[in-house]
Amino acid sequence: MAEFICLFGKIVIKQPKKSPLFLRMIVLVFAMVCGLYMCSVCLKQSSLQSSQLVPTPVDSHSSHHVITRIHYPKPQTFSRAECGHNPVRFFAILSMQRSGSGWFETLLNSHDNVSSNEEIFSVLDRRKNVSSIVKTLDRVYNLDWFTSASKNECSAAVGFKWMLNQGLLANHEEIVDYFNRRGVSAIFLFRRNPLRRMVSVLANSYDRYAKLLNGTHKSHVHSPEEADALSRYKPVINSTSLIHDLRETESLAAKALEYFNTTRHMVVFYEDLITNQTRLKQVQEFLNIPVKDLSSRQVKIHRGDLSVHIKNWEDINKTLNGTEYEKFLRADY
Ligand SMILES: *[C@@H]1O[C@H](CO)[C@@H](O)[C@H](O)[C@H]1NC(C)=O
Ligand SMILES: *[C@@H]1O[C@H](CO)[C@@H](O)[C@H](O)[C@H]1NC(C)=O
Ligand SMILES: *[C@@H]1O[C@H](CO)[C@@H](O)[C@H](O)[C@H]1NC(C)=O
Ligand SMILES: *[C@@H]1O[C@H](CO)[C@@H](O)[C@H](O)[C@H]1NC(C)=O
Ligand SMILES: *[C@@H]1O[C@H](CO)[C@@H](O)[C@H](O)[C@H]1NC(C)=O
Ligand SMILES: *[C@@H]1O[C@H](CO)[C@@H](O)[C@H](O)[C@H]1NC(C)=O
Ligand SMILES: *[C@@H]1O[C@H](CO)[C@@H](O)[C@H](O)[C@H]1NC(C)=O
Ligand SMILES: *[C@@H]1O[C@H](CO)[C@@H](O)[C@H](O)[C@H]1NC(C)=O
Repeated sequence: MAEFICLFGKIVIKQPKKSPLFLRMIVLVFAMVCGLYMCSVCLKQSSLQSSQLVPTPVDSHSSHHVITRIHYPKPQTFSRAECGHNPVRFFAILSMQRSGSGWFETLLNSHDNVSSNEEIFSVLDRRKNVSSIVKTLDRVYNLDWFTSASKNECSAAVGFKWMLNQGLLANHEEIVDYFNRRGVSAIFLFRRNPLRRMVSVLANSYDRYAKLLNGTHKSHVHSPEEADALSRYKPVINSTSLIHDLRETESLAAKALEYFNTTRHMVVFYEDLITNQTRLKQVQEFLNIPVKDLSSRQVKIHRGDLSVHIKNWEDINKTLNGTEYEKFLRADY
């Protein structure tokens, strides 16, 4: 009996002591739940940036493999849904105005899994300083940038085109650093024939004011009739500065290649894309996307012999005769 009372007493006495223990347990459980939650937030954060290193062939002709990064972006504006498990490659087309990058981009965008978001940095505000450039890049590569080219959830490669004079060379150190840090692959797109590019530049800037197509300025056309209408205008090329201007263009391209030589990159020439289907296939391999037949509705504006497209042809022909640039007089495309 005494025992029982004692036992009972014990129980009774213990009761208030058990209460703080119980509270402590609750605190412990709460702390554990908190910890787990914080961990999961951390994991989420890190998966926002998640990327992994995988070997990919750069060039189908070489057996060398370089390390490139694949990414699993978590856009803030939508869910990648069933394609959330597909990796995404980051790229940028680095080029100059009137080098065929518009056409090249429509070819890439005809691929189900490519989003190339056009000339994002043509807007001055986005390239005002390095921080606005980086902010813009982050949004593009997180798939939160919207243009008509956005494929959203099933994009396997995302990028845009960037002209060398749109803050790219001016901020090259920081941009190269960004490309290497985030695994952005560069596709250089140049023209072998800068004389033809010059014709296109002059004609396009004339049309900006003349608006030859029913009062609308067009940089790209979709029919032979439109192409003919635009190419009826023949620009006069300044023969005094011609050689100097051609050199400038070449040295700009060389400079860009030198600045970006540590990034993962490939160089594509517009003329090769036109004449050789293999090139476009190699671009797709470079981007690590399924190789498909790509198409564009764009029609080339200045076709055929260059002599019919330049008003002061005699003069230009004479100026380049016997120089290293003579070959550009005759080359197609
Ligand atoms: C960069 O430019 C943006 C405006 O485009 C401005 O708000 C920001 O303060 C600038 N940053 C620096 C570091 O100059
Ligand atoms: C490409 O897009 C299609 C849907 O448009 C999707 O089913 C497929 O998984 C994507 N492929 C890759 C490699 O992301
Ligand atoms: C201009 O507009 C007319 C009528 O809308 C159309 O028939 C014609 O093809 C257009 N011309 C060009 C060069 O686009
Ligand atoms: C042609 O280039 C020369 C040298 O740069 C320049 O002095 C001249 O003004 C230019 N002519 C025209 C018509 O722009
Ligand atoms: C990149 O170019 C610089 C300057 O010409 C040169 O010193 C460097 O070795 C090059 N790096 C690579 C990886 O080619
Ligand atoms: C097409 O390009 C590939 C790779 O760049 C090259 O090996 C091949 O010889 C080219 N074909 C022609 C017909 O130029
Ligand atoms: C260009 O000049 C060369 C002589 O230097 C001449 O033989 C050739 O016919 C000229 N080409 C054209 C298309 O006028
Ligand atoms: C082109 O250059 C050659 C020498 O390189 C010269 O004999 C010829 O007369 C030049 N033609 C013209 C049209 O200037």
